Amino acid sequence: MSRLRRILHPTDFSRASSAAFKRAVGMAKADRAMYERLAAQDAEQRLVEVTTLDISERVNEHLRTVTGRARSGSPSMLRFPLDLGLPWTPEVIDYWRRVGNQIGAEAQAPKAPAIGRQLAVRAVRIRPDVVMRVVPRDFNVVTERWNGAPFDLIIATNVLVYYDTLDQSLALANIEAMLRPGGILLSNDALLELPVSGMRSLGYLTVSYSTPGDNGDHIVWYRRG
Ligand SMILES: C[S@@+](CC[C@H](N)C(=O)[O-])C[C@H]1O[C@@H](n2cnc3c(N)ncnc32)[C@H](O)[C@@H]1O
Repeated sequence: MSRLRRILHPTDFSRASSAAFKRAVGMAKADRAMYERLAAQDAEQRLVEVTTLDISERVNEHLRTVTGRARSGSPSMLRFPLDLGLPWTPEVIDYWRRVGNQIGAEAQAPKAPAIGRQLAVRAVRIRPDVVMRVVPRDFNVVTERWNGAPFDLIIATNVLVYYDTLDQSLALANIEAMLRPGGILLSNDALLELPVSGMRSLGYLTVSYSTPGDNGDHIVWYRRG
């Protein structure tokens, strides 16, 4: 089954034409305007701090290493491979060409690894002041309760897909407790909205990465009431 079809059941989006949904989209536009203002302000005042939550020791150790190096002034290199054998949409190619430009500078890309496919690789050297704003935390979003400051925005893409409905509902309850009131969750999984939950979906965006092809996502945004 394609990923696009697997992650969402059509009934999850049956409210698309209702007045309530339209009101919700209006609120989402206000949220978007607020986050755009924050991004513009951040460019000057460095307001945004990013906390990563992960259960993988390998991921957490890597993040601790790069943030530690950044504190001694070293940049961090990100590499973006692109499989040239797939019919990516022009938007994907455009994104691949500019991703990272706001937080670093394009660097000499390493030779693409020989993996039996034709790859193009872009490399971007991320500025240490940006890397230093990442705070890695060893945290299980399904089983643990967050006791730090509440978040404005939580992005959980390609994480909740590994869990069944019970675990996803536990994660959603934890995420609700981690967000400030009015805070936003972005996920590419449609989650069960239990009546007891204060999290409500406001809308979704369908993105195709290649045409033709089954590559794509439904990005759903939820808001803590
Ligand atoms: C496929 S990667 C997705 C990474 C990134 N979010 C993205 O969209 O590319 C899934 C990540 O989720 C982490 N993960 C899985 N279950 C988790 C949980 N219960 N709490 C926190 N992190 C979890 C994994 O260790 C892994 O690093």
